Amino acid sequence: TEPQSLKLAVIPGDGIGPEVTAEGLKVLEQATPADVKFEPTRYDLGAERYLATGEVLPDSVLEEIRQHDAILLGAVGGKPNDPNLPPGILERGLLLRLRFELDHYVNLRPSRIFPGSISPLADPGEVDFVVVREGTEGPYTGNGGALRVGTPHEVATEVSVNTAFGVERVVRDAFARAQKRPRKKLTLVHKTNVLVHAGSVWWRIFEEVAREFPEVTTDYMHVDATMIHLTTNPSRFDVIVTDNLFGDIVTDLAAAVTGGIGLAASGNVNPDRTAPSMFEPVHGSAPDIAGQQVADPTAAILSVALMLDHLGLDDAARRIEDAVVADLAERDPATKRSTAEVGDAIAARVAGS
Ligand code: NAI
Ligand code: MG
Repeated sequence: TEPQSLKLAVIPGDGIGPEVTAEGLKVLEQATPADVKFEPTRYDLGAERYLATGEVLPDSVLEEIRQHDAILLGAVGGKPNDPNLPPGILERGLLLRLRFELDHYVNLRPSRIFPGSISPLADPGEVDFVVVREGTEGPYTGNGGALRVGTPHEVATEVSVNTAFGVERVVRDAFARAQKRPRKKLTLVHKTNVLVHAGSVWWRIFEEVAREFPEVTTDYMHVDATMIHLTTNPSRFDVIVTDNLFGDIVTDLAAAVTGGIGLAASGNVNPDRTAPSMFEPVHGSAPDIAGQQVADPTAAILSVALMLDHLGLDDAARRIEDAVVADLAERDPATKRSTAEVGDAIAARVAGS
């Protein structure tokens, strides 16, 4: 029989994006089961394209991307303080636009201290949690404006948008994920004591949905206290659900305590599958090390595993994770490997598994 064909939109992006994406695709090739075929289409989007053509995400390209089964992104972003690349152009025009247009309401970020990976914490314990960050609302919707800019009377607003619909669907997704995990624990992170309006809708809906998941233990923590617990006792967390801005901050700290930016993978997921989900390393384009083959491709490779999970190819995803765990366990900080050498080593382990 013909293999099942899956259309993959690949956006390598800028800086180290193309370097790490190449390794992700290398590993994907070895992990793909015989009855599946990935058909990649490359889209050149990012700082380089913007600087050359002024285009960020043409509508026609967005519509083409929408026709795919999944998206793999490296990273986009130019050199710091480039006067030709104003802040927000790529963030709002490309990354956030893809998230909003393709309804990526679950921003999924697993945080695990793998055996052999080095945490900056002296005694972190067993850390394996996942953050479910809301991806389409909060203060990131562009609901704001500015008046009298540049004068002493400047006014700027950036309103946090929280809809019952938006909160319920992400909270429900987080409960479903917690239910499938051994510890079955879900922590709501917010600031309900001060942000009383948004906090109230998050809290009420969290309590309501909890009734449908009696096996899941629930917990609430203020976002500032979460910073303390993530550094002093990160092993207490299993699944965290939180809003867009808190999630952005929580996941950077989570990446730092679990062994660094070279390992942190993420998914921008549309759980209803009305549009393709997008998988990417948490890190950016790292212009400081671009083109030198020194970037760690592990985060991009783990993002491929998240993608395979989302596509229902769980066995292939586990093979990649196991290969990464084995590679990490044998890493010797004294031996420097190139980006491609790390990719080759992980791909070889996947091929042999
Ligand atoms: P960054 O994540 O690109 O770099 C931060 C630091 O981590 C740098 O020192 C870099 O060398 C290092 N680093 C990052 N990834 C690494 C890897 N795989 N292996 C080894 N070291 C790694 O964040 P930064 O410097 O704030 O942003 C650079 C550009 O990337 C900016 O234009 C920013 O807007 C963009 N960016 C894009 C993202 C995306 O595409 N989703 C996410 C974050 C930033
Ligand atoms: Mg961030």
